[in-house]
Amino acid sequence: MYRIGVIGAGFVGLATATVLAERGHEVICSDVQEKRVNQLNDGQLPIVEDELEEVMRKFLKIGTLRFTTSNLLAVSSADYVFLCLATPSQVDGTANVDVLYDVIKEIREQMKPGAVLVVKSTVPIGTTRKLRDVLSRFDCSVVSNPEFLREGRALFDSRSPDRIIIGADNLAIAREVGKLFTSNTELVQVSSYESAELIKYASNAFLAMKVSYINDIAALCEAFDTDIAAVVQGVGSDTRIGREFLNPGPGWGGSCFPKDTLALTVMAENVGVKLELVEATIRANERHRYSIVEKIKSRLTSTSSRVAVLGLTFKAGTSDVRESPSIEIVQELIRQGLEVVAFDPTVRTGSDLGMGKTFRIVDSPLEACISADVIAVLTEWDDFRLLDPNDVGHLVRHRAVIDARNHLDQDAWVGADFDYVGVGRI
Ligand code: UGA
Repeated sequence: MYRIGVIGAGFVGLATATVLAERGHEVICSDVQEKRVNQLNDGQLPIVEDELEEVMRKFLKIGTLRFTTSNLLAVSSADYVFLCLATPSQVDGTANVDVLYDVIKEIREQMKPGAVLVVKSTVPIGTTRKLRDVLSRFDCSVVSNPEFLREGRALFDSRSPDRIIIGADNLAIAREVGKLFTSNTELVQVSSYESAELIKYASNAFLAMKVSYINDIAALCEAFDTDIAAVVQGVGSDTRIGREFLNPGPGWGGSCFPKDTLALTVMAENVGVKLELVEATIRANERHRYSIVEKIKSRLTSTSSRVAVLGLTFKAGTSDVRESPSIEIVQELIRQGLEVVAFDPTVRTGSDLGMGKTFRIVDSPLEACISADVIAVLTEWDDFRLLDPNDVGHLVRHRAVIDARNHLDQDAWVGADFDYVGVGRI
């Protein structure tokens, strides 16, 4: 059993802290937001994550997981200190890592001799080495341990990672950090700091590229009047390619892909390398979002203007609307003078979205559909698949549905006389 400090109670920090408590360690997690810390100590998770709240509560009750606003308390008796702080985009596209340097300066005197600092935040290549220099504690070690969990699957992914990447200058320490998360040593890959940092960016950019690629192929399916589902099945069955991340949709979003693809291209450009594929992926993603706007508009006439939007989050299973394709599509519809009535199971108020008077959030998908001229399904929530198109048909003004995630039962909606438009579907 080790004592562990986790700094930052976001998705990564909360999942890391909970899983380490579950693996038998004593964990203190700190965050500057007092309200969040109080909520967590009361057993309430401030984010939507399957199962995480339940497990977190269990270890809070046992007493091996605690939350505090004091970084020093989290660090002072810790054998391992995890940095799980956000690194948001700056105006030039690079990641802002100021908060990591500030925290290192704050905790450097407090870390106990022999402690290991683990950088989980996604940081530009070269940052971990610089952090180590700023820490300048020769009796402590620093490793990079990028995180690969998905929002909505944070607990599952943290419990069962498919690889654990450790960037380190000391193999024995790297292996010890790996053992905190798994007893299967084969999952642990040790590399230099810089390789570990790059693995994170290269992975996210590759996945984004895969999604954009299939979205382009879906557009081609539409041009040739053929179905993307068969193409995805055929292409994805090649084990070298794989079936994952081949679901066409309104483009990728979230707090990671947009930020990381952009940061990677800027980082590369700054050292004279042009990442044309990643740059094209970013441009293609813009085009894919806009193509959904065009599809929605194609079903409206000069006298019809009400769009029912089903789904606002960047994917199902989360309440996160950061860089959500759905939000950008709604913003564009509103800019073009249309009225939007939206429903999302996890976004119950539009007050922070700054959309104006022609945007409204209602309490159910059926309510959103009342008097709609077109329905746009933008996030793949289960609730939307369960809608009965016959019930919906009685509510709308026009029977038209844009299924931006190929999520609905096309035959059922066509059977209920809906003009159905998917992505790459005939
Ligand atoms: C992503 C990565 O998958 C994680 O491995 C990584 O740890 C995380 O970013 C991060 O850097 O923190 P996440 O942002 O939670 O995780 O979302 P994903 O599930 O990867 O989805 C990203 C976007 O791609 C979403 O907008 C999703 O709707 C879209 N997508 C994904 C598709 O449109 N089609 C697909 O087939 C898959």
